[in-house]
Amino acid sequence: MLHATMLPPMRKRQRRTEGTEGPRYGVEVKFPDVRLYLVEKKMGATRRGFLAQLARAKGFLVEDVLSERVTHVVSEQNQAQELWQWLRRQALNNLPTLHVLDIGWFTDSMREGRPVTLEARHHIQDILPEASTHLPVVVLSRYACQRRTSTENHNEIFTEILQCGRSFEVEKILCNDRYQRLKLFTSVFGVGPKTAEKWHRGGLRTLNDALEDPGVELNSMQKAGFRHHGDISRAVSRAEALALGEILHQAALGISAHAVLVLTGGFRRGKEFGHDVDFLLSTPEQGKEETLLLSLVDSLRRQGILLYCDHHPSTFDINNLPGVSFEAMDHFAKSFLILRLEDRQVEGGVQRPEGQHDGRSWRAVRVDVVAPPMERYAFTLLGWTGSRQFERDLRRFARKEKRMLLDNHGLWDKTKKEFLPAEREEDIFAHLGLEYLEPQLRNA
Ligand code: UTP
Ligand code: MN
Repeated sequence: MLHATMLPPMRKRQRRTEGTEGPRYGVEVKFPDVRLYLVEKKMGATRRGFLAQLARAKGFLVEDVLSERVTHVVSEQNQAQELWQWLRRQALNNLPTLHVLDIGWFTDSMREGRPVTLEARHHIQDILPEASTHLPVVVLSRYACQRRTSTENHNEIFTEILQCGRSFEVEKILCNDRYQRLKLFTSVFGVGPKTAEKWHRGGLRTLNDALEDPGVELNSMQKAGFRHHGDISRAVSRAEALALGEILHQAALGISAHAVLVLTGGFRRGKEFGHDVDFLLSTPEQGKEETLLLSLVDSLRRQGILLYCDHHPSTFDINNLPGVSFEAMDHFAKSFLILRLEDRQVEGGVQRPEGQHDGRSWRAVRVDVVAPPMERYAFTLLGWTGSRQFERDLRRFARKEKRMLLDNHGLWDKTKKEFLPAEREEDIFAHLGLEYLEPQLRNA
């Protein structure tokens, strides 16, 4: 089977006949008798483009415009009657022979890498009596073809992917292609989407490829990412998060008796597992929070448990707010760490892969620490507690309903043209006219 991912990178588009988006990048047309047209309605333009690209990579012809050259019309979640009414309005002479198919046929074909045999269940039947003469060969119940997948979408492996599309089957196919590879590369700490895309285009397929390719130069973050890849791609348990909280807490108090350390992120929302552990560190001593963070990291280094540190100095300046940039990323000092956590520090020991014991008495864990000044504490805590979706909704609510701008730094009232103060998260909810929500209820 020909994967899009195996194709040479950066080849110029082939010339194509008008209106036809044929296979690109040198993929041969494998099925000249099949010309697909994907109905945009319900499917949406983005998904349509995405599916068309997938089909082309597999050697299918996909037409952008519906014309009499089209042999197979593919539709998703459209009402049969509405779809057929629309088709009739297109005044196509080949309507009687046109195959009008449910997305199920498309996904089956993508999986097989060829147009699968048409079955009754694939057809979207024209339910108007006058059109019965137009129907191609087999016509059966339209219910089967309307049975879409949403109830099956519980498979956790695919939940991320599902955000960009509805059809479970299609996502499964994509998993085997480009998506799978990008996901693998970005699973390495320090490898972002851009690098992953570059590696993918360069024909790298496995993590070992990236390690062995002489053309790939890893930065220190990526080196640490590879070194601890097994450990940090394994979930962190609540017991581990609490153990790290204890270690950091002791270290912080060793530096300043006024230090404040709070567990945030998913664990504050009550999650049992996370991909990292997030902490907020602050101090009532004005302007000392970044120094405190640096001292904390230093203390961890001296304890011999600092495996990696990527420190981002503060770029926060209250005078620049509100800028254009009420945004997701905040400007406070923060450190992205990899820490060594010992078995003996965790109730029940550290998390290990099922049934494996490699003789080590420790594991590596990703830890983020952000250090806002105390008067920004409530906003940062709210922001870092998440979930991301909850934050997005809250910010949109503030903007649309209250004419206020909310981010990790503050809350700006556009009507009053002033920042609204908050000592606690409760104050922020109150400014927004919302009932206070405990972190456990913010798992949107
Ligand atoms: P995470 O990515 O750690 O998510 O960010 P999480 O909810 O804890 O889930 P897992 O279990 O680790 O995967 C936590 C929150 O911190 C915010 C994010 O927006 C998210 O809401 N955050 C993170 C920031 O505001 N700024 C950052 O630089 C990083
Ligand atoms: Mn987290």
